[in-house]
Amino acid sequence: MGVELAYTDAVARATDRLYPKVAKFVPPAEWHAYAPVIAEINRLKREKNAVILAHNYMTPEIFHCVGDFVGDSLALAREAARTDAQVIVQAGVHFMAETSKILSPQKTVLIPDMRAGCSLASSITGADVRLLKQKYPGLPVVTYVNTSADVKAESDICCTSGNAVKVVEAIASDFGTDTVIMIPDKYLARNVAAQTGVKVITWEGACEVHERFTADEIRDYRAAHPGIVVLAHPECPPEVVAEADFAGSTAAMIDYVGVHHPQRVVMITECSMSDNVAAENPGTEFIRPCNLCPHMKRITLDGILHSLQTMTHEVIVDPAIAARARAPIDRMLAVRA
Ligand code: 13P
Ligand code: SF4
Repeated sequence: MGVELAYTDAVARATDRLYPKVAKFVPPAEWHAYAPVIAEINRLKREKNAVILAHNYMTPEIFHCVGDFVGDSLALAREAARTDAQVIVQAGVHFMAETSKILSPQKTVLIPDMRAGCSLASSITGADVRLLKQKYPGLPVVTYVNTSADVKAESDICCTSGNAVKVVEAIASDFGTDTVIMIPDKYLARNVAAQTGVKVITWEGACEVHERFTADEIRDYRAAHPGIVVLAHPECPPEVVAEADFAGSTAAMIDYVGVHHPQRVVMITECSMSDNVAAENPGTEFIRPCNLCPHMKRITLDGILHSLQTMTHEVIVDPAIAARARAPIDRMLAVRA
């Protein structure tokens, strides 16, 4: 990382107000190592006119201490389209950074670790989509944002877990069809089909984090913690979603806790999220299954600092592909969620 950063009085002044948000997860000794990095990241952001778009799965010290804008994939995409900053540092995975670059081609988009992928994005290529379109001509292609720019470029509309139901209903109506191709998450597609009545032709993709949850596990939580509220992400298998009290995007789960203030909750999703939400909801007890996304966890405070110091790693999307990928993203953003 270059020069060793020290915990000075100036660092303390710049970061003291941030510590209460993460105190439950970061002991004081560790904070003394984090705080100088946080202060330097926040200084470099100002110097370089940069913003950090942080996904809800980031660890608490990133989420609460350096993220300028935090949210689910949909909110981060909207922010990428609207920010005035010249540099976007994506504290999330590669497909999110690509989406930011597609929406803001004139900006520099950085990702701290190029290896931050996604099992859904790597499950399908643009060539696969072309074959699907040949097999099912005339059907609209609804593509989850957790995909590469190549795949988006072959699509009619994108969706996130936050707007998938609305998007599928809208595109089915626009095309006058009761069937859509929905790729690449077979579970999200089945969950949306169950909610909309629209038939889906899907793909064998799955999220390596959410596919591990089982309906038995949910029943065990209910038995062990009577009255617990179960919130599930729609990337979970349908039998898991069926056992939940509510299913929605990461942002929708956070909103649920903020609105309903359940006494006890379990979030069936990546485990950093409970830490982030717990900090803002001290009255709710969180039971925490710990399924970590190895890709999201490649993004660290040191990595973000290095990214801003060296202006790496820049995310580049071929302009011809970016132009074709932008249309389905814009079409999605025009759908009222
Ligand atoms: P959200 O859009 O709900 O934030 O989900 C993104 C993701 O990668 C979930 O695994
Ligand atoms: Fe992809 Fe799943 Fe990780 Fe989200 S949690 S980035 S869907 S592998």
